[in-house]
Amino acid sequence: MELKQKIILTGDRPTGKLHIGHYVGSLRRRVELQNSGLYDKIFVFEADAQALTDNIENPEKVRQNVIEVALDYLAAGLDPERTTLFIQSQIPELCELSFYFMDMVSVSRLQRNPTVKTEIQMRGFSGESIPVGFFTYPISQAADIAMFKATTVPAGDDQEPMLEQAREIVRRFNYIYGDTLVEPNILLPENAACLRLPGTDGKAKMSKSLGNCIYLSDSADEVNRKVKTMYTDPTHLQVSDPGHLEGNTVFTYLDAFATDEQVARLTTDYATLQEMKDHYTRGGLGDMKCKKLLMAVLDETLEPIRQRRAEYEKDIPAVYEILRKGCEVARAAACETMDEVRRAMKINYFDDRALIEEQARRFQK
Ligand code: TRP
Repeated sequence: MELKQKIILTGDRPTGKLHIGHYVGSLRRRVELQNSGLYDKIFVFEADAQALTDNIENPEKVRQNVIEVALDYLAAGLDPERTTLFIQSQIPELCELSFYFMDMVSVSRLQRNPTVKTEIQMRGFSGESIPVGFFTYPISQAADIAMFKATTVPAGDDQEPMLEQAREIVRRFNYIYGDTLVEPNILLPENAACLRLPGTDGKAKMSKSLGNCIYLSDSADEVNRKVKTMYTDPTHLQVSDPGHLEGNTVFTYLDAFATDEQVARLTTDYATLQEMKDHYTRGGLGDMKCKKLLMAVLDETLEPIRQRRAEYEKDIPAVYEILRKGCEVARAAACETMDEVRRAMKINYFDDRALIEEQARRFQK
């Protein structure tokens, strides 16, 4: 038997430019996984069809952000030679697989999906006014994952219920139709700060509507301005006061971004981040010094990303061409899986010579 391939698949809804929360939560890891050479195939895609499930009246927003997110991907270091970058809506086979998956999930199972529950509340849909497509997007997401036989899905913990649902559907499919699809595993970010990076205002999540995001495409000046106004410790009034790390956004960001090597090189007084934290909690360390370090650290991370983005921005048609080629590669993989699915489900009438001959014999009697 052939060895099971290791395949990564993950994606984002193109509803806005990517921010540094996306970067530490998943993008940075994808680039590392790509460069590790440990995976047979890597697919990263823009879930535009999923984005439309609650933006159906706002297609222009999705259309504009498809190119922004593509630029963010390339700028962050995803390499189209090694990673297949594609757009969900261009793979019609995904609709086909979703359609069959719909027969394997009950309404009550979907209603129990905690991510869908919160999203329904967040969007203010009441009772049964939820669009069916939005309600069933976990099924379509299971199709995204199963179609490419992903073994590994790097994502945030909010995607855990989606992965659980995908595994259930794959298990059910394989049980009914025989071993065809592959059960995926989630790959979560390495530390708590990366799992859910708060906004610059200290609020739970970076979100465009709260205006608390630092974007990958922000200039150094913009980043510095945002860091200066960042939420720290409201009880840390005088430099000499003891400071608190809990809920202190500057330190959360340092946890997510700074290595001890950077702390040692970019400060004069500390060899590790922990030493700096100890000083802060003792008292005697001002917020501005911490923010200065954060600015320097963010700049070291973001400057190469900005430069790569600027290069790609010079030739936008070439970026669309990268996506078009990626869609072709993804589509070929999807067609292969759908052939197997149709065979397993016994809906491959015209490819099945034996069926045609058997039916011919039956009717000639
Ligand atoms: N739901 C994901 C998000 O909101 C996007 C997504 C769609 C996805 N299909 C996926 C992520 C498959 C991982 C795997 O960001």
